[in-house]
Amino acid sequence: RDAERVLKARELAESFPMFASLDPQGMQDLLHTFRHRTANPGARLIRRGDRADTVFFIAAGQVEVAVAGRKIRLGPGEHFGEMALMSGEPRSADVTAVDYCQFFTLDRRDFRRFIAQHPEIRTVVEATAAARRQMNEEK
Ligand code: CMP
Repeated sequence: RDAERVLKARELAESFPMFASLDPQGMQDLLHTFRHRTANPGARLIRRGDRADTVFFIAAGQVEVAVAGRKIRLGPGEHFGEMALMSGEPRSADVTAVDYCQFFTLDRRDFRRFIAQHPEIRTVVEATAAARRQMNEEK
């Protein structure tokens, strides 16, 4: 059953475009570092203004990001919670599960180590965060 779960995790991790550049060792490291988390519809995953401790990679389901008077849906293959972890600032938005969700999560220390070891992924994550920040600053 463990092998089954690891295999499933690998399939899911490989379905994240952002991880496509990982070599087998990098993928293996990631699979051993990820935690699994689920959420029921309506569950609040991130509260604006909180201190940041986790980044979420969406394996299944949709979440809603409420920021700057907008509501933005994110789904499988996308991630959230990276902005505060990278900037050291408080959480920039509320994030709520829309339906039943499955996530891979990394805590702050593991996320920082992971992006330090994989500059190409760091670049992607930074670019996403910059685009999101810019969008939130537009009126
Ligand atoms: P963080 O600030 O840690 O917590 C809230 C998260 O919502 C943030 O990281 C991003 O991952 C996400 N987020 C904020 N603004 C946007 C946006 N404009 N589009 C998509 N996701 C966003």
